Parts: sequence; structure tokens; C-alpha cells
Amino acid sequence: MNYTVVLPAAGSGKRMGAKHNKLFLELEGQPILAHTLQVFQQDPWCEAIVLAIKEEERNIIKELVETYKLTKVTHLVQGGSERQHSVFEALKAAYGCQVVLVHDAARPFILQSTIHALVEKAAAEGGAIAAVKAKDTMKLVRDGRVEETIDRETLWAVQTPQAFRYPLLFEAAEQAQQDGFLGTDEAMLAERAGIPVHVVESSYDNQKMTTPDDLLIGELILKRRKENN
Ligand code: CTP
Ligand code: MG
Repeated sequence: MNYTVVLPAAGSGKRMGAKHNKLFLELEGQPILAHTLQVFQQDPWCEAIVLAIKEEERNIIKELVETYKLTKVTHLVQGGSERQHSVFEALKAAYGCQVVLVHDAARPFILQSTIHALVEKAAAEGGAIAAVKAKDTMKLVRDGRVEETIDRETLWAVQTPQAFRYPLLFEAAEQAQQDGFLGTDEAMLAERAGIPVHVVESSYDNQKMTTPDDLLIGELILKRRKENN
């Protein structure tokens, strides 16, 4: 089942503390962005890749797209000041697809099996998000005092990709922009629009490269994958 993927890549990577966009930092000799893009380039279900980028990085990203022969990249759109704005700009360019997947460019370890499960679930139900079960005991705390322990069986740590039937997400995103509502993921926009959002169990490997420690973990994940192949 075909889909278009929207990849927000217009961040600045402040928490990574690098001098430039963290997506150009390398894991095993390749930029994080190249790792992520190759997953979608190699997925037969993926028909188009729309990237939200910073205008000043257009040339370097064009070069990367050529170097890694990323022929599915159809649009490099200018991102915005917040991730949600970047995604919205990219969604406009993805117009016409049936299922759209939004995925952080900073999560290079997403598995094709998870992507396919998300696409199928979203096509059938409206929306589906990748998530993993919480590993720790979780408590609700206010002013430093525990109010209650939340049943861990009901708690999921949410990742991307987040997949939706395109018109549903586009409308929800447009509504959020109009209302000045800023969410931390696409599901929040869908939830407020009444779109059913289902969970697909993902892998703990699908981490976002956020701080320098994540790069160490990233190198280990790649090393383990090489050994297992
Ligand atoms: N992103 C984006 N546009 C923004 C902000 C973020 O396209 N205005 C993208 C990032 O490039 C990244 C993804 O959204 O691929 C997830 O964001 P995050 O991990 O927070 O990356 P940054 O915003 O770059 O990092 P930081 O928050 O540490 O500055
Ligand atoms: Mg950010």
C-alpha cells in the first residue's frame, strides 16, 4: 500500500550542541539525514519523500540527495520556526496522496515493518502512531509530591512515524494553524479534530537523536545490526 512521507528536517539541534543542524552529524560515516532518507528510498511502498528544510541548507541537502541517489525526494519545502509549521508546509506539498506518514528526520532507525503496520492501520482507521510501552513506573507528580501511580499498562511513549489518511491530517493541521494551537506531535492535532488515533507497537531502537549521548547509542544500534546481518 503506497504512502508519501513528510520529513521535518528544518530544526537547529540546540540540545545536540553542534555548530550546525544535527542531521548532518555522522553515524558510521553517513549523515543522520542520509540514514533516515535511505529507509524510505528503499521501501517499495514509499512513493514520494517531502522534506521540510531551512532555506540556507537547501544546497547542501540537494547535494546529499544527489550523492545518495535519493530519487524519491520530490520536494524541498521551506520549514518554519516550529516543527508543526515545518510539517504543515510539507503537508501542502504532499497534496493528493492517500496515506501520509510524518517522521522526524532525526529518527534514523525506523523499521520497514513498523512503517507498513502504520500505513495499513491508518488506511483502515484514520490514524496510527508508533509507540513503545513505558519501561519505568510512572507517577503523577505535582509540586514535587506524588499524587498517584499510573497503571503502566495504559502508558505508551510516543514516537514517529505518525500515519494518517491524508485529508484527515491536512484538515486537522489547517485547523490547528488557524486556531494558533501548537501541539508536540501530529496526533495531538488529530485528537482535537476527533480523528481516531491507534497505536502500533514500535521498537525501542527508533530513538530520536537529540543529545550527544544518543549518538553513542546510535553507533551501537548500527554495530549490532551489522553483526546480525
Ligand atoms: N524540525 C523542523 N522544524 C523546526 C524544528 C524541528 O523541521 N522548526 C525537525 C528537526 O529537524 C527534527 C524533528 O523536527 O528532524 C524533531 O525535532 P527535534 O528533535 O526537536 O530537532 P531540533 O529542533 O533540531 O533540536 P532541538 O529541539 O534540540 O533544537
Ligand atoms: Mg526541537
